[in-house]
Amino acid sequence: MKSLVFLLLVSVASARIFQRCEWARTLKNHGLDGYQGYSLANWVCLSKWESNYNTRATNRNTDGSTDYGIFQINSRLWCSNGTPTSNGCSIPCGQLLTDDVTVAINCAKRVVRDPNGMGAWVAWVNKCKDQNLSAYVAGCRV
Ligand SMILES: *[C@@H]1O[C@H](CO)[C@@H](O)[C@H](O)[C@H]1NC(C)=O
Repeated sequence: MKSLVFLLLVSVASARIFQRCEWARTLKNHGLDGYQGYSLANWVCLSKWESNYNTRATNRNTDGSTDYGIFQINSRLWCSNGTPTSNGCSIPCGQLLTDDVTVAINCAKRVVRDPNGMGAWVAWVNKCKDQNLSAYVAGCRV
């Protein structure tokens, strides 16, 4: 039993692509369920369509900025990567790609506190906003 728990911890620590329910539980543990009025299903849906739950995802934008990590947070506004930025989360962009998702979650909290809320994420607007999101947390016991 002890070794099972140990293996579980190791596998969580090295996870780069989360399973849907694993990610839902992680978000909940970090206080995102209801954060700024957004249900857990909104956060899971956002991550699904931005990164497919991949903490290492990066994507270049046409303006030369890059989106980083499981929430695809933008370098022009929120983190520093050597290109022009207002660095709203006061972090190097690389910290948004690590297996410890605490930094990415804290930065996502900062993003969603802006007046636009989740409207900052195009994928959320296109795929999640005003949708029935119950499938995103179905079966997760969260
Ligand atoms: C949302 O979808 C689920 C499952 O597909 C369904 O059971 C539920 O009634 C739907 N809720 C609303 C408000 O439509």
